[in-house]
Amino acid sequence: MKVKMTAFNGSPRGRNSNSHRIVEPLLEGAREAGAQAEEVFLIEKDVRHCRGCFACWTETPGKCVINDDMTSLIDLYLESDYVGLATPVYGMFMTGLLKNFTDRFLPLATPHIRRNDNGSFYHEERIRRFPRHFFVANSGFPGAYNFDLLKAYHEIARRAGPSNIVLEIYRNCGEVLGESSDDDPELLRRISEFNDALKQAGREMVTSGQVCQDTVERLHTQLMSDEEYMDRANKGWDEMLGQSQ
Ligand SMILES: Cc1cc2nc3c(=O)[nH]c(=O)nc-3n(C[C@H](O)[C@H](O)[C@H](O)COP(=O)(O)O)c2cc1C
Repeated sequence: MKVKMTAFNGSPRGRNSNSHRIVEPLLEGAREAGAQAEEVFLIEKDVRHCRGCFACWTETPGKCVINDDMTSLIDLYLESDYVGLATPVYGMFMTGLLKNFTDRFLPLATPHIRRNDNGSFYHEERIRRFPRHFFVANSGFPGAYNFDLLKAYHEIARRAGPSNIVLEIYRNCGEVLGESSDDDPELLRRISEFNDALKQAGREMVTSGQVCQDTVERLHTQLMSDEEYMDRANKGWDEMLGQSQ
């Protein structure tokens, strides 16, 4: 049976997003290694807000009362061996689109509160088999601190339950990923190396169930200096706003 990989893209830009520019090569690598891989653009789906009614725990255990695309997306999630969540950094965290999607997984838990040995608490799961996860974030700023909340989120999740996350990608300078003009060959070379590392990560997940440290490091090499990125971004905005200096 083929390994099944599904990435849920939480960018409102959907198929035009930098998130997609990161996810696509990773899925391509997974396909090269024999997986069946698919990207789902949440912006194209009807996923309404969790109502907080807890009917999925009381009246219809394991099922949400809202009739929208989430029913088939949860099925897809459960059928997958690997699930990726991709988001741009919005307000230092994930997009509302992706957060809303994750909230709708409440039916997979039961109301019963359990305590871990480390003092954290969790709701007992209704299902026994969860897919392995990978996570992709990209920021519009250079630097690393914009990912601090997302890193803390994963750290807390790891404390609360058995970790099934195999890879976290925190890509800064996200807005240059769509660059295609050959004005800056060094940048194109670095983007191409980043894409190669993404493909390698996809292949490794399928063939060995994990991503080696060398690949993780290659995924986090700088695309350009902070100053270069700032100059480039500011120049781009000035041109767009007609404020040449
Ligand atoms: C509402 C909004 C909030 C944002 N907040 C942040 C932020 O806190 N930190 C950051 O580095 N970039 C922020 N950005 C920039 C995006 O992360 C950046 O443009 C990213 O490359 C978009 O990725 P996408 O094409 O996958 O949507 C924000 C963008 C928007 C529209």
